[in-house]
Amino acid sequence: MKKALIIGGSRGLGLGLVGEHLRRGWHVTATVRGEAPELEQLRKEAPERLVIERIDISRPADVEALAMRLRGQAFDLLFLNAGIMAGRGTALVDVPDEDIVSIFMTNAISPVRVADQLLDVAGKGATLAFMSSILGSVSTNGDGRAELYRASKAALNSLILSFRARHADRTDLTILAMHPGVVRTAMGGPGAPLDIPTSVKGVADTLEKRTGTGGVAFVDYRNEVIAW
Ligand SMILES: NC(=O)c1ccc[n+]([C@@H]2O[C@H](COP(=O)([O-])OP(=O)(O)OC[C@H]3O[C@@H](n4cnc5c(N)ncnc54)[C@H](OP(=O)(O)O)[C@@H]3O)[C@@H](O)[C@H]2O)c1
Repeated sequence: MKKALIIGGSRGLGLGLVGEHLRRGWHVTATVRGEAPELEQLRKEAPERLVIERIDISRPADVEALAMRLRGQAFDLLFLNAGIMAGRGTALVDVPDEDIVSIFMTNAISPVRVADQLLDVAGKGATLAFMSSILGSVSTNGDGRAELYRASKAALNSLILSFRARHADRTDLTILAMHPGVVRTAMGGPGAPLDIPTSVKGVADTLEKRTGTGGVAFVDYRNEVIAW
């Protein structure tokens, strides 16, 4: 049975990815940092195939403890999904420094640190997917909107490429920066064009197609390549 580790599975796209992989017959370990009633409901439906762990990705001690608990396991998929929005609609000069630190830590630094700390549980031929965004594409930044979020995802993309270079010996790994589409979640808002099932089905299909191809790519939920 294929095994997935989904970081940030309490709600939104992460929760959707957990459900999609359970429907595809996978064993899933999902992380939360607080209450996650919808994920608990999924565990009731598939108690033998869903394990729930607790971490805040920006607390190194949480991640270290998780790495210890998972030691010896080999996951086929590590999905770094957790992310936040900050400063949308506010002039950069008015965004509090704490929000700037928080968005860069959560969206860029912590996912890559977590990937480093959990690399030992990435089985041979595994896929490491980071939830990026098309807004992280530097070369297609035409309108500049959501500039802080955009910069955090561009930083994530840069760190993904550095992660690939640092772990060049793991030629078996496929590493993806993933754009899920613009989706109706707490972050995407009610006016977003895509629903969660459409996005996560596309993301899971893309993961299946890309797994084993090696290298690093920036792709969307339709498996279309995005310019860095
Ligand atoms: N929705 C979109 O249109 C869209 C488009 C492009 C990219 N994305 C990206 O997709 C990912 C998921 O977004 P979403 O739309 O599903 O947002 P969401 O509904 O707001 O969910 C965000 C998830 O991230 C978790 N999280 C945030 N900070 C965390 C931390 N420090 N440690 C652990 N978990 C943390 C949340 O956990 P809690 O429940 O504990 O808060 C929640 O599970 C994000 O990386 C986002 O940037 C979304």
